[in-house]
Amino acid sequence: MPIQWFPGHMHSTKKAIAERLPDIDVVIELLDARLPGSSANPLLADLTRGKPALKVLNKQDLADPELTALWLAHYQAQPGTNALALDASVAAPARQLIAACRALAPLRGGMVKPVRVLICGIPNVGKSTLINTMLGQRAAKTGDEPGITKIEQKIMLASDFQLFDTPGMLWPRIVVEQCGYHLAASGGIGRNAYDEEEVALALMASVRERYADRLQARYKLDDFSSATDEGLLADIGRKRGGLRAGGQVNLQKAAEIAINDFRTGAWGRITLETPDEFAQWSATAHALDAERQASRQARRTKKPVSQSDDAL
Ligand code: G4P
Repeated sequence: MPIQWFPGHMHSTKKAIAERLPDIDVVIELLDARLPGSSANPLLADLTRGKPALKVLNKQDLADPELTALWLAHYQAQPGTNALALDASVAAPARQLIAACRALAPLRGGMVKPVRVLICGIPNVGKSTLINTMLGQRAAKTGDEPGITKIEQKIMLASDFQLFDTPGMLWPRIVVEQCGYHLAASGGIGRNAYDEEEVALALMASVRERYADRLQARYKLDDFSSATDEGLLADIGRKRGGLRAGGQVNLQKAAEIAINDFRTGAWGRITLETPDEFAQWSATAHALDAERQASRQARRTKKPVSQSDDAL
């Protein structure tokens, strides 16, 4: 796996979430609408199982509307879960989020029983933008109250609606390979954690069939259906001046161009995965991972006990 990162304040964030959860009525997970499966944190799924959940597909302005509809239906079919898509900088849809939380916690409300909501998401998914949009001029952020840890912030969105903010959290080990590549392509993990060429090649694999016409239009490419992913990336480099002295394609430059174009929406509205694709990748990767763990365990069990081990 070429993507290696230090998951930041994972342990302290995880602990703060676990401590806060008993008082929480609804957990909002902010997802990137271009990669909803890959931007969902498996640690959070384990921590918050059974709590009413609102999945918010942010950056919908950059995502494929048809695939966003599929993802919304996918989440809405899960028990105790609702989902909506928005662009974090637009105020009216952001306000729908409050209504959706109230609907998920119908027994809460009023000054005595305010609705208490925890908002979580990976870094860079748009949490600060969304909170600022929802805050507008009306509400106050508080952090220095008893019971509110430094890494948590309580935000009063209405007199009976409390939002607990948490820092962006990643998880330590990516099992699903495509998930790592998609996170890297979207800017969810730091630049030093991955190789841009590998990420761009994975990006080619994820978009080349569904969005072939967009790539052709953007880079004025001929039919590339029989090209390899590397051939396609090289074509992009060639068309966009990513050449070394002597005319050879600079794949690193081509990778930077492709990733940047994806991030800024230059290919139009693109989504990297469908719920079915993600479920398939996940099943395959977890089966392989379980096999690997089992054979590692078997090797450990078979290892003869050395004298020094014995002495321990
Ligand atoms: P975070 O708190 O979750 O870490 O994310 P933050 O709000 O800082 O947003 C990360 C980047 O994503 C910002 O861009 C922000 O403008 C952008 N963003 C957030 N929500 C949306 C959205 O719904 N649609 C689109 N298109 N972009 C969104 P940036 O380039 O890092 O900063 P800036 O140029 O906005 O200053």
